[in-house]
Amino acid sequence: MTDYAKTRGLMARGAEFLGSEYAIMCGAMSWVSERNLVSAMSNAGGFGVIACGAMTPDLLDTEIAETRKLTDKPFGVNLITMHPQLMELIEVCGKHGVTHVVLAGGIPPKGSVEAIKGHGAKVIVFAPTLALAKKLLRSGGDALVIEGMEAGGHIGPVSTSVLAQEFLPALSEDHLVFVAGGIGRGEAMAGYLEMGAVGVQLGTRFACATESIAHPDFKKAFFRANARDAVASVQVDARLPVIPVRALKNKGTEEFTAKQREVAGVLDREEIAMAEAQLQIEHYWAGALRRAVIDGDVENGSLMAGQSVGMVKEEEPVADIIAALMAESEAALTRR
Ligand SMILES: Cc1cc2nc3c(=O)[nH]c(=O)nc-3n(C[C@H](O)[C@H](O)[C@H](O)COP(=O)(O)O)c2cc1C
Repeated sequence: MTDYAKTRGLMARGAEFLGSEYAIMCGAMSWVSERNLVSAMSNAGGFGVIACGAMTPDLLDTEIAETRKLTDKPFGVNLITMHPQLMELIEVCGKHGVTHVVLAGGIPPKGSVEAIKGHGAKVIVFAPTLALAKKLLRSGGDALVIEGMEAGGHIGPVSTSVLAQEFLPALSEDHLVFVAGGIGRGEAMAGYLEMGAVGVQLGTRFACATESIAHPDFKKAFFRANARDAVASVQVDARLPVIPVRALKNKGTEEFTAKQREVAGVLDREEIAMAEAQLQIEHYWAGALRRAVIDGDVENGSLMAGQSVGMVKEEEPVADIIAALMAESEAALTRR
């Protein structure tokens, strides 16, 4: 049973698209998804994705080059659509012949999809509604990720199980759809594959892999946490729409509430515009995540984690996590 024939059969289109052995992506995680985790993921037969986050084009250039040194397998780069230098970042990906670019964080600005495709790369998009998904797939998106609110990091309002029921029957015949959010074991992966997904994306399950550079205290916090500890941030001011973030409860969660009040106050006094206010909130998250992942400040930093965190119990090599997911999926499909 170690060839995982049933699971591989269901994920064949996804694996072919990614150029990987298994259609299991490790979703980009700012500060965590860098050269080590990304190359380990691709070397183990999955698909790693560099999190560009707020990196400058020069930093991304270095990160791609260093990742290439560690793997000859394909990997992707995740770019945030609101990055002020998005087009330069796309050029950096083109220069390195990056094969897959994931556009996250909003509707891709005009010209960005075309620029990526101009370099011969495939474009992976996110969409919160079926109508938007159809539009993005019509206008150049090669594959879609649907991500439910169980996920770690920035989230939408709808659960993975509902998104899967809405999107998969409508899209899976003609399009490539990957499912993300709340997947901790292979049985769940098997379920989404049977519904028509061509693959899955996990973040939380891989964040504490042996190859992840996350600080040991960050990893310990994950091992101790249960599903109910991974809570979504709350919006305190109706005029300041902040995208909710799912993270482990700590002092940082409370500080975020205070930060929102502070930014809302500045907005009230008309000292800054709405776009600037939202950017300040996003910068806050990037800084807070860095404090937790890199510095190990698990009190004040942001411990972004999904509800599957309760299934993360110890440090394991990426290859073992992938093998476990495939074996659980295969056993589930065999029992059917
Ligand atoms: C610590 C952490 C940081 C993340 N950072 C990003 C990011 O920078 N860009 C992005 O598109 N998604 C980000 N995500 C979401 C993941 O790419 C992935 O879609 C998500 O973790 C999948 O759900 P799961 O956590 O339930 O496995 C992050 C998730 C975590 C846990």
